[in-house]
Amino acid sequence: MKLTDDEKAMLDGKEGIGRQRAMELLVRYCKALGAERLVDTNNVATAINATNPHQREWAARGDFDGVFAEFNVDSPDRFEMPPLKAFTCHLIGAMDVGHWQVLGVPERLVDLQRQSEAFFGPRGIQLMQTCTPYQVGNVPVKGEHCAWMESSAVVYCNSVLGACTNTEGTASTGAAALTGKIPYWGYHIPDNRFGTHLLRVECEVESMMDWGMLGYFAGELVEEDIPVIDRVGKVPNLIRLKHFGAAAASSGGVEMYHVAGVTPEAPSIDAAFGPRRRPAQVIKYGPAERRATYDNLNSQATDRDIDFVMLGCPHESIEQVWEVAKLLDGKKVSANTQLWVHTPRAIKQVADRNGYTRIIEDAGAHLMSDTCPAISQYVPKGTKVVATDSAKQGHYLPAILGVQCWFGSMEDCVNAAVSGRWNGAL
Ligand code: F3S
Repeated sequence: MKLTDDEKAMLDGKEGIGRQRAMELLVRYCKALGAERLVDTNNVATAINATNPHQREWAARGDFDGVFAEFNVDSPDRFEMPPLKAFTCHLIGAMDVGHWQVLGVPERLVDLQRQSEAFFGPRGIQLMQTCTPYQVGNVPVKGEHCAWMESSAVVYCNSVLGACTNTEGTASTGAAALTGKIPYWGYHIPDNRFGTHLLRVECEVESMMDWGMLGYFAGELVEEDIPVIDRVGKVPNLIRLKHFGAAAASSGGVEMYHVAGVTPEAPSIDAAFGPRRRPAQVIKYGPAERRATYDNLNSQATDRDIDFVMLGCPHESIEQVWEVAKLLDGKKVSANTQLWVHTPRAIKQVADRNGYTRIIEDAGAHLMSDTCPAISQYVPKGTKVVATDSAKQGHYLPAILGVQCWFGSMEDCVNAAVSGRWNGAL
Protein backbone atom coordinates (compact mmCIF):
# COMPACT_ATOMS: atom_id res chain seq x y z
CA MET A 1 0.00 0.00 0.00
CA LYS A 2 1.06 3.60 -0.53
CA LEU A 3 1.86 5.82 2.43
CA THR A 4 2.48 9.56 2.32
CA ASP A 5 5.54 11.07 4.00
CA ASP A 6 3.60 12.14 7.08
CA GLU A 7 2.08 8.65 7.37
CA LYS A 8 5.53 7.05 7.07
CA ALA A 9 6.88 9.38 9.75
CA MET A 10 4.14 8.32 12.15
CA LEU A 11 4.69 4.64 11.30
CA ASP A 12 8.43 5.01 11.93
CA GLY A 13 7.75 6.38 15.40
CA LYS A 14 8.91 9.93 14.66
CA GLU A 15 5.81 11.29 16.42
CA GLY A 16 5.96 8.98 19.42
CA ILE A 17 4.77 5.53 20.32
CA GLY A 18 1.03 6.36 20.48
CA ARG A 19 0.81 7.55 16.90
CA GLN A 20 3.13 4.73 15.81
CA ARG A 21 0.83 2.10 17.30
CA ALA A 22 -2.18 3.84 15.72
CA MET A 23 -0.53 3.84 12.27
CA GLU A 24 0.44 0.19 12.65
CA LEU A 25 -3.19 -0.61 13.36
CA LEU A 26 -4.38 1.37 10.33
CA VAL A 27 -1.86 -0.34 8.04
CA ARG A 28 -3.01 -3.77 9.28
CA TYR A 29 -6.61 -2.67 8.76
CA CYS A 30 -5.89 -1.49 5.19
CA LYS A 31 -4.26 -4.82 4.38
CA ALA A 32 -7.24 -6.76 5.74
CA LEU A 33 -9.65 -4.60 3.71
CA GLY A 34 -7.55 -4.54 0.55
CA ALA A 35 -7.36 -0.72 0.76
CA GLU A 36 -4.41 0.77 -1.12
CA ARG A 37 -4.15 3.98 0.84
CA LEU A 38 -5.42 6.09 3.70
CA VAL A 39 -7.46 9.28 3.47
CA ASP A 40 -7.29 12.35 5.71
CA THR A 41 -10.13 12.78 8.17
CA ASN A 42 -10.91 15.52 10.62
CA ASN A 43 -14.21 14.13 11.87
CA VAL A 44 -14.19 11.09 14.14
CA ALA A 45 -17.06 9.71 16.25
CA THR A 46 -15.88 7.20 18.81
CA ALA A 47 -16.64 5.72 22.22
CA ILE A 48 -14.52 5.22 25.30
CA ASN A 49 -16.18 2.99 27.84
CA ALA A 50 -13.94 3.11 30.85
CA THR A 51 -16.76 1.69 32.94
CA ASN A 52 -17.28 -1.50 30.97
CA PRO A 53 -16.24 -4.66 32.81
CA HIS A 54 -13.06 -5.24 30.78
CA GLN A 55 -11.73 -1.75 31.33
CA ARG A 56 -12.75 -1.13 34.93
CA GLU A 57 -9.55 -2.59 36.33
CA TRP A 58 -7.41 -0.05 34.44
CA ALA A 59 -9.78 2.81 35.15
CA ALA A 60 -9.98 1.94 38.86
CA ARG A 61 -6.21 2.46 39.01
CA GLY A 62 -6.74 5.85 37.37
CA ASP A 63 -4.87 4.62 34.30
CA PHE A 64 -6.98 6.17 31.55
CA ASP A 65 -3.91 6.35 29.29
CA GLY A 66 -3.83 2.56 29.61
CA VAL A 67 -7.55 2.30 28.81
CA PHE A 68 -7.07 4.34 25.64
CA ALA A 69 -3.94 2.47 24.49
CA GLU A 70 -5.35 -0.99 25.12
CA PHE A 71 -9.00 -0.58 24.13
CA ASN A 72 -9.08 2.36 21.73
CA VAL A 73 -5.90 1.61 19.79
CA ASP A 74 -5.54 -2.13 20.47
CA SER A 75 -1.92 -1.46 21.40
CA PRO A 76 0.17 -4.28 22.87
CA ASP A 77 1.86 -1.77 25.15
CA ARG A 78 0.67 1.14 27.22
CA PHE A 79 1.45 4.69 26.13
CA GLU A 80 0.61 8.20 27.22
CA MET A 81 -2.25 9.46 25.06
CA PRO A 82 -0.80 12.06 22.66
CA PRO A 83 -2.82 15.11 21.52
CA LEU A 84 -5.51 14.18 19.02
CA LYS A 85 -4.99 15.14 15.39
CA ALA A 86 -8.65 14.89 14.37
CA PHE A 87 -11.76 16.54 15.76
CA THR A 88 -13.34 13.70 17.72
CA CYS A 89 -16.73 13.45 19.40
CA HIS A 90 -17.95 10.87 21.88
CA LEU A 91 -20.97 8.80 20.88
CA ILE A 92 -23.51 7.44 23.34
CA GLY A 93 -22.10 6.22 26.64
CA ALA A 94 -22.79 3.73 29.38
CA MET A 95 -24.87 5.87 31.74
CA ASP A 96 -26.54 9.19 32.48
CA VAL A 97 -24.70 10.39 35.58
CA GLY A 98 -27.60 12.75 36.30
CA HIS A 99 -30.00 9.78 36.58
CA TRP A 100 -27.77 7.06 37.99
CA GLN A 101 -30.17 6.22 40.79
CA VAL A 102 -33.14 5.89 38.41
CA LEU A 103 -31.03 3.72 36.12
CA GLY A 104 -29.78 1.63 39.05
CA VAL A 105 -26.06 2.16 38.29
CA PRO A 106 -23.70 1.32 41.21
CA GLU A 107 -22.18 4.51 42.65
CA ARG A 108 -18.58 3.34 42.12
CA LEU A 109 -19.25 3.14 38.37
CA VAL A 110 -20.67 6.66 38.42
CA ASP A 111 -17.40 7.81 40.01
CA LEU A 112 -15.42 6.03 37.30
CA GLN A 113 -17.54 7.65 34.60
CA ARG A 114 -16.90 11.08 36.09
CA GLN A 115 -13.15 10.40 36.31
CA SER A 116 -13.15 9.15 32.72
CA GLU A 117 -14.89 12.32 31.49
CA ALA A 118 -12.49 14.49 33.51
CA PHE A 119 -9.56 12.74 31.82
CA PHE A 120 -10.74 12.52 28.21
CA GLY A 121 -12.69 15.79 27.96
CA PRO A 122 -9.73 18.17 28.28
CA ARG A 123 -7.77 15.95 25.88
CA GLY A 124 -10.21 16.77 23.08
CA ILE A 125 -12.79 13.97 23.15
CA GLN A 126 -15.88 16.16 22.73
CA LEU A 127 -18.30 14.79 25.32
CA MET A 128 -21.49 14.95 23.26
CA GLN A 129 -22.50 11.47 24.49
CA THR A 130 -25.13 10.80 21.86
CA CYS A 131 -25.75 8.49 18.93
CA THR A 132 -26.96 11.58 17.02
CA PRO A 133 -23.94 13.93 16.91
CA TYR A 134 -25.54 15.54 13.84
CA GLN A 135 -28.34 16.85 16.11
CA VAL A 136 -25.96 18.72 18.38
CA GLY A 137 -23.45 20.41 16.14
CA ASN A 138 -21.33 17.77 14.45
CA VAL A 139 -22.74 18.08 10.94
CA PRO A 140 -20.14 17.04 8.34
CA VAL A 141 -20.64 18.46 4.86
CA LYS A 142 -21.16 16.61 1.57
CA GLY A 143 -18.00 14.79 0.52
CA GLU A 144 -16.26 15.16 3.91
CA HIS A 145 -14.33 12.04 4.93
CA CYS A 146 -15.30 10.88 8.42
CA ALA A 147 -14.54 7.95 10.69
CA TRP A 148 -17.74 7.24 12.60
CA MET A 149 -19.01 4.35 14.66
CA GLU A 150 -22.70 3.66 15.46
CA SER A 151 -24.84 2.29 12.65
CA SER A 152 -27.68 4.84 12.94
CA ALA A 153 -25.20 7.73 12.83
CA VAL A 154 -23.22 6.21 9.95
CA VAL A 155 -26.28 5.74 7.73
CA TYR A 156 -27.42 9.33 8.45
CA CYS A 157 -23.92 10.69 7.74
CA ASN A 158 -23.65 8.94 4.35
CA SER A 159 -27.22 9.25 3.16
CA VAL A 160 -28.66 12.51 4.47
CA LEU A 161 -25.48 14.58 4.80
CA GLY A 162 -23.60 13.10 1.83
CA ALA A 163 -20.45 12.81 3.94
CA CYS A 164 -18.41 9.60 3.66
CA THR A 165 -17.84 6.99 6.34
CA ASN A 166 -17.81 3.26 6.84
CA THR A 167 -19.07 1.75 10.08
CA GLU A 168 -15.88 1.93 12.06
CA GLY A 169 -14.99 0.31 15.36
CA THR A 170 -13.53 1.43 18.67
CA ALA A 171 -9.92 0.74 17.66
CA SER A 172 -10.07 2.20 14.14
CA THR A 173 -11.71 5.41 15.41
CA GLY A 174 -9.14 5.65 18.22
CA ALA A 175 -6.36 5.32 15.63
CA ALA A 176 -8.09 7.86 13.36
CA ALA A 177 -8.35 10.34 16.23
CA LEU A 178 -4.58 10.09 16.85
CA THR A 179 -3.46 10.19 13.21
CA GLY A 180 -6.21 12.02 11.26
CA LYS A 181 -6.29 9.03 8.84
CA ILE A 182 -8.68 6.21 7.94
CA PRO A 183 -8.57 3.58 5.14
CA TYR A 184 -9.78 4.85 1.79
CA TRP A 185 -12.25 2.10 1.14
CA GLY A 186 -15.99 1.33 1.00
CA TYR A 187 -18.16 4.43 1.22
CA HIS A 188 -15.17 6.79 0.88
CA ILE A 189 -15.00 5.77 -2.81
CA PRO A 190 -17.61 7.57 -4.95
CA ASP A 191 -18.25 4.51 -7.12
CA ASN A 192 -19.44 2.50 -4.11
CA ARG A 193 -22.14 4.99 -3.21
CA PHE A 194 -24.65 4.32 -5.97
CA GLY A 195 -27.97 2.59 -5.32
CA THR A 196 -28.48 -1.14 -5.81
CA HIS A 197 -32.21 -1.74 -5.21
CA LEU A 198 -35.24 0.35 -6.18
CA LEU A 199 -37.94 0.54 -3.51
CA ARG A 200 -41.23 1.77 -4.95
CA VAL A 201 -43.53 3.17 -2.29
CA GLU A 202 -47.18 2.47 -3.11
CA CYS A 203 -48.85 3.53 0.12
CA GLU A 204 -48.81 6.54 2.37
CA VAL A 205 -45.54 6.95 4.26
CA GLU A 206 -45.91 10.07 6.32
CA SER A 207 -45.39 9.70 10.08
CA MET A 208 -42.20 8.88 11.94
CA MET A 209 -43.63 5.42 12.63
CA ASP A 210 -44.24 4.96 8.88
CA TRP A 211 -40.65 5.84 8.09
CA GLY A 212 -39.37 3.48 10.79
CA MET A 213 -41.43 0.64 9.32
CA LEU A 214 -40.30 1.44 5.77
CA GLY A 215 -36.68 1.36 6.94
CA TYR A 216 -37.20 -1.93 8.74
CA PHE A 217 -38.77 -3.43 5.60
CA ALA A 218 -35.98 -2.09 3.38
CA GLY A 219 -33.17 -3.38 5.60
CA GLU A 220 -34.58 -6.89 5.74
CA LEU A 221 -34.69 -7.08 1.95
CA VAL A 222 -31.53 -5.31 0.81
CA GLU A 223 -29.37 -6.36 3.80
CA GLU A 224 -26.06 -4.53 3.25
CA ASP A 225 -26.92 -2.97 -0.10
CA ILE A 226 -28.13 0.52 -0.97
CA PRO A 227 -31.88 1.06 -1.40
CA VAL A 228 -33.21 3.93 -3.50
CA ILE A 229 -36.63 5.07 -2.29
CA ASP A 230 -38.99 6.34 -4.95
CA ARG A 231 -42.43 7.95 -4.83
CA VAL A 232 -42.50 9.30 -1.31
CA GLY A 233 -45.18 11.92 -0.84
CA LYS A 234 -44.10 14.69 1.48
CA VAL A 235 -40.41 15.47 1.95
CA PRO A 236 -39.33 13.62 5.12
CA ASN A 237 -37.64 15.67 7.83
CA LEU A 238 -34.63 14.86 10.04
CA ILE A 239 -36.73 12.81 12.48
CA ARG A 240 -38.22 10.60 9.77
CA LEU A 241 -34.90 10.01 8.00
CA LYS A 242 -33.21 9.34 11.35
CA HIS A 243 -35.76 6.60 12.07
CA PHE A 244 -35.68 5.20 8.54
CA GLY A 245 -31.90 4.79 8.62
CA ALA A 246 -31.74 3.43 12.17
CA ALA A 247 -34.35 0.79 11.32
CA ALA A 248 -32.72 -0.19 8.01
CA ALA A 249 -29.36 -0.53 9.76
CA SER A 250 -30.96 -2.85 12.36
CA SER A 251 -33.02 -5.27 10.27
CA GLY A 252 -30.23 -5.24 7.66
CA GLY A 253 -26.80 -3.68 7.59
CA VAL A 254 -27.73 -0.64 5.51
CA GLU A 255 -25.03 2.05 5.70
CA MET A 256 -26.35 4.20 2.86
CA TYR A 257 -29.65 4.89 1.10
CA HIS A 258 -31.05 7.45 -1.28
CA VAL A 259 -34.47 9.09 -1.34
CA ALA A 260 -35.03 10.28 -4.89
CA GLY A 261 -35.41 14.04 -5.04
CA VAL A 262 -34.52 14.42 -1.35
CA THR A 263 -31.07 13.16 -0.30
CA PRO A 264 -28.01 14.96 -1.71
CA GLU A 265 -26.67 12.27 -4.04
CA ALA A 266 -30.08 11.44 -5.52
CA PRO A 267 -31.48 14.47 -7.35
CA SER A 268 -33.15 11.83 -9.57
CA ILE A 269 -33.51 8.03 -9.74
CA ASP A 270 -30.92 7.92 -12.54
CA ALA A 271 -28.42 9.91 -10.51
CA ALA A 272 -28.95 7.60 -7.52
CA PHE A 273 -28.07 4.52 -9.59
CA GLY A 274 -25.14 6.18 -11.34
CA PRO A 275 -23.99 5.95 -14.93
CA ARG A 276 -23.66 2.21 -15.34
CA ARG A 277 -26.15 0.51 -13.14
CA ARG A 278 -29.70 -0.65 -13.14
CA PRO A 279 -31.38 -1.84 -9.94
CA ALA A 280 -30.58 -5.43 -9.00
CA GLN A 281 -34.18 -5.69 -7.87
CA VAL A 282 -37.33 -3.55 -7.85
CA ILE A 283 -39.24 -3.94 -4.58
CA LYS A 284 -42.79 -2.80 -3.89
CA TYR A 285 -43.88 -1.38 -0.54
CA GLY A 286 -47.67 -1.20 -0.49
CA PRO A 287 -50.39 -1.60 2.17
CA ALA A 288 -49.80 -5.36 2.51
CA GLU A 289 -46.05 -4.90 3.07
CA ARG A 290 -46.72 -2.10 5.56
CA ARG A 291 -49.13 -4.31 7.52
CA ALA A 292 -46.70 -7.26 7.48
CA THR A 293 -43.87 -5.06 8.74
CA TYR A 294 -45.98 -3.76 11.62
CA ASP A 295 -47.01 -7.32 12.56
CA ASN A 296 -43.41 -8.47 12.32
CA LEU A 297 -42.24 -5.72 14.70
CA ASN A 298 -44.95 -6.72 17.18
CA SER A 299 -44.66 -10.46 16.71
CA GLN A 300 -42.86 -11.21 19.99
CA ALA A 301 -45.22 -9.39 22.33
CA THR A 302 -48.34 -10.93 23.86
CA ASP A 303 -48.73 -9.42 27.32
CA ARG A 304 -50.41 -6.00 27.18
CA ASP A 305 -49.46 -4.86 30.69
CA ILE A 306 -46.52 -2.52 30.09
CA ASP A 307 -43.63 -2.25 32.58
CA PHE A 308 -41.47 0.19 30.68
CA VAL A 309 -41.87 2.67 27.82
CA MET A 310 -38.72 3.79 26.03
CA LEU A 311 -38.66 6.82 23.73
CA GLY A 312 -35.59 8.34 22.11
CA CYS A 313 -33.93 5.72 19.91
CA PRO A 314 -32.11 7.31 18.14
CA HIS A 315 -31.90 10.16 20.65
CA GLU A 316 -34.82 12.61 20.45
CA SER A 317 -34.63 15.99 18.75
CA ILE A 318 -36.01 18.99 20.63
CA GLU A 319 -39.10 18.79 18.41
CA GLN A 320 -39.73 15.24 19.63
CA VAL A 321 -39.17 16.18 23.28
CA TRP A 322 -41.69 19.01 22.79
CA GLU A 323 -44.14 16.48 21.33
CA VAL A 324 -43.71 14.15 24.34
CA ALA A 325 -44.25 17.09 26.71
CA LYS A 326 -47.47 18.03 24.90
CA LEU A 327 -48.74 14.44 25.04
CA LEU A 328 -47.92 14.14 28.77
CA ASP A 329 -49.04 17.59 29.91
CA GLY A 330 -51.41 17.25 32.88
CA LYS A 331 -51.26 13.44 32.87
CA LYS A 332 -49.56 10.91 35.15
CA VAL A 333 -47.61 7.82 34.22
CA SER A 334 -49.21 4.66 35.59
CA ALA A 335 -47.90 3.44 38.94
CA ASN A 336 -46.99 0.11 37.28
CA THR A 337 -45.06 1.64 34.39
CA GLN A 338 -41.96 3.76 33.85
CA LEU A 339 -41.41 6.13 30.93
CA TRP A 340 -37.86 7.12 30.02
CA VAL A 341 -37.19 9.61 27.24
CA HIS A 342 -33.63 9.84 25.87
CA THR A 343 -32.08 12.88 24.22
CA PRO A 344 -28.60 14.40 23.84
CA ARG A 345 -27.55 16.42 26.90
CA ALA A 346 -27.31 19.61 24.82
CA ILE A 347 -30.96 19.17 23.80
CA LYS A 348 -31.98 18.37 27.35
CA GLN A 349 -30.65 21.78 28.37
CA VAL A 350 -32.99 23.38 25.83
CA ALA A 351 -35.83 21.21 27.14
CA ASP A 352 -35.00 22.38 30.68
CA ARG A 353 -35.20 26.03 29.59
CA ASN A 354 -38.41 25.47 27.66
CA GLY A 355 -40.11 23.83 30.63
CA TYR A 356 -40.55 20.48 28.85
CA THR A 357 -38.40 18.62 31.39
CA ARG A 358 -40.62 19.87 34.20
CA ILE A 359 -43.80 18.75 32.36
CA ILE A 360 -42.27 15.32 31.70
CA GLU A 361 -41.08 14.95 35.30
CA ASP A 362 -44.37 16.20 36.75
CA ALA A 363 -46.01 13.35 34.87
CA GLY A 364 -43.64 10.93 36.61
CA ALA A 365 -41.47 10.23 33.55
CA HIS A 366 -37.71 10.88 33.17
CA LEU A 367 -35.88 12.87 30.51
CA MET A 368 -32.41 11.35 30.32
CA SER A 369 -29.28 11.91 28.28
CA ASP A 370 -25.95 10.27 27.45
CA THR A 371 -27.18 6.67 27.16
CA CYS A 372 -30.03 4.31 26.16
CA PRO A 373 -31.24 0.91 27.42
CA ALA A 374 -29.73 -1.09 24.53
CA ILE A 375 -26.26 0.32 25.24
CA SER A 376 -26.37 0.64 29.04
CA GLN A 377 -28.54 -2.46 29.52
CA TYR A 378 -30.20 -0.64 32.42
CA VAL A 379 -34.00 -0.84 32.40
CA PRO A 380 -36.41 -0.57 35.33
CA LYS A 381 -36.00 -3.52 37.67
CA GLY A 382 -38.22 -6.46 36.82
CA THR A 383 -39.07 -5.24 33.31
CA LYS A 384 -40.70 -7.93 31.23
CA VAL A 385 -42.79 -5.94 28.73
CA VAL A 386 -41.58 -2.83 26.92
CA ALA A 387 -43.23 -0.41 24.47
CA THR A 388 -41.26 1.82 22.10
CA ASP A 389 -41.73 3.99 19.02
CA SER A 390 -38.38 2.87 17.63
CA ALA A 391 -38.11 -0.04 15.20
CA LYS A 392 -34.41 -0.26 16.12
CA GLN A 393 -35.07 -0.55 19.84
CA GLY A 394 -37.92 -2.99 19.13
CA HIS A 395 -35.45 -5.10 17.17
CA TYR A 396 -32.70 -5.16 19.79
CA LEU A 397 -34.34 -5.13 23.24
CA PRO A 398 -35.94 -8.60 23.03
CA ALA A 399 -32.61 -10.05 21.88
CA ILE A 400 -30.44 -8.19 24.41
CA LEU A 401 -32.68 -8.26 27.48
CA GLY A 402 -35.09 -11.11 26.76
CA VAL A 403 -38.15 -8.87 27.11
CA GLN A 404 -41.34 -8.63 25.07
CA CYS A 405 -41.54 -5.42 23.06
CA TRP A 406 -44.45 -3.57 21.47
CA PHE A 407 -43.82 -1.14 18.63
CA GLY A 408 -46.09 1.79 17.75
CA SER A 409 -46.37 5.55 17.43
CA MET A 410 -45.11 8.00 20.04
CA GLU A 411 -48.74 8.65 20.98
CA ASP A 412 -49.42 4.90 21.40
CA CYS A 413 -46.38 4.71 23.66
CA VAL A 414 -47.29 7.70 25.82
CA ASN A 415 -50.85 6.36 26.14
CA ALA A 416 -49.40 3.00 27.21
CA ALA A 417 -47.27 4.73 29.85
CA VAL A 418 -50.30 6.55 31.24
CA SER A 419 -52.74 3.63 31.20
CA GLY A 420 -50.18 0.86 31.82
CA ARG A 421 -51.74 -1.07 28.92
CA TRP A 422 -50.80 -1.48 25.27
CA ASN A 423 -53.60 -0.45 22.92
CA GLY A 424 -51.54 0.51 19.88
CA ALA A 425 -52.88 -0.30 16.44
CA LEU A 426 -51.97 0.37 12.82
FE1 F3S B 1 -28.99 5.37 19.86
FE2 F3S B 1 -29.21 3.45 21.61
FE3 F3S B 1 -30.91 3.62 19.68
S1 F3S B 1 -27.35 4.13 20.67
S2 F3S B 1 -29.79 4.51 17.97
S3 F3S B 1 -30.65 5.14 21.32
S4 F3S B 1 -30.04 1.73 20.45
